[in-house]
Amino acid sequence: MKNILVTGGAGFIGSNFVHLMLGKYDDINIIVFDKLTYAGNQDNLIPVEKNPRYHFYQGDICHPDEVDRVMQRFEIDTIVNFAAETHVDRSLMEPGGFIQTDVYGTYVLLEAAKKYGIERYHQISTDEVYGAVLEGRSKETDQLHTRSPYSAAKAGGDLMCLAYYTSFNMPITITRGSNNIGPYQYPEKAVPLFVTNAIDNKPLPLYGDGLQMRDYQYVQDHCEGIDVVLRKGQPGEIYNLGTGVETTNLEMTHAILRLLNKPESLIQPITDRPGHDRRYALDCSKVQALGWRSAHNFEQAIEATVKWYVDNEWWWRKIKSGDRYQEYYQKQYAGREINK
Ligand code: NAD
Ligand code: TYD
Repeated sequence: MKNILVTGGAGFIGSNFVHLMLGKYDDINIIVFDKLTYAGNQDNLIPVEKNPRYHFYQGDICHPDEVDRVMQRFEIDTIVNFAAETHVDRSLMEPGGFIQTDVYGTYVLLEAAKKYGIERYHQISTDEVYGAVLEGRSKETDQLHTRSPYSAAKAGGDLMCLAYYTSFNMPITITRGSNNIGPYQYPEKAVPLFVTNAIDNKPLPLYGDGLQMRDYQYVQDHCEGIDVVLRKGQPGEIYNLGTGVETTNLEMTHAILRLLNKPESLIQPITDRPGHDRRYALDCSKVQALGWRSAHNFEQAIEATVKWYVDNEWWWRKIKSGDRYQEYYQKQYAGREINK
């Protein structure tokens, strides 16, 4: 593992992964390949931009010629694919882009991996492919029950990876992570949206009864887990990555308000997301056997996350004041309030 192509490296988890890897190892080069969609942001990479072992290449994983060019130019031996359309609510509005990037884009990268015979292709996937899990915990061998266009598209990417492993004997691994929180998360996702709205004394739009459960993990822990799987994971295998502890959205919201010393009257119930998955829960024993476990529990993760948004208003105010964000917010939330 010397020249690592990090697709989607200008997004939330990808950029945290780049920071982690360049800080941890001095014998690797990182090449970020990113289309810079609304979610891609070069501000996320400012801390590494002067590092001689970091390179940025703007490109689309759905364009084979662009992928080919970067593979050759940087003699890529490892691909870690974070590039995706990632927001469930947007997938309900416009599913086409999800199918394009998350399924077709994965195929384009797999073809490049095959052509260049690389050492490892690693796919970043999600616990959402298991669907709502009302009881028990999802194991890697469980059937997929996708329920949103986002999770269906991610499952399509996973299945394509497994097909390339089986058909072409390629060194492919997959991780399925739970909900990440932490620095540089685009403020459309619940946690950064609620934290930044609360700082500004704006309503926190909570879907339905707020009793849906997620396993919120700190993004740096997730990135450490990906690194462990890159180094110790077996080709053809899938590894769940999460804390193994679930929190309701209502508890998450209360924690944010408590940390910011804001009133509960800011909580604004709104009509639920269609097909909203009630609970995700992961069994992480397989990756734990490789020596990984989350370093932060929910309280520590949410505290560090809130602190980062309080300390980095320059980062999120630029995004939230833009026309593109405002238009999305209006389209997504206007008129959905349920009277308190
Ligand atoms: P994000 O939306 O913050 O970033 C996605 C990045 O991909 C952006 O930089 C964007 O510009 C880039 N991108 C999108 N389409 C592209 C294309 N066609 N070509 C090249 N680049 C493209 O996403 P994130 O939250 O950092 O998620 C990263 C990965 O982790 C995704 O695959 C996602 O499914 C997975 N995941 C996310 C979570 C989570 O809680 N956020 C949990 C588990 C798994
Ligand atoms: P989100 O961050 O969109 O992640 P995902 O849906 O992929 O798990 O949402 C996290 C949880 O918060 C999910 O149960 C939906 C809920 N949610 C709200 O209640 N209000 C919101 O405005 C958003 C964006 C999410």
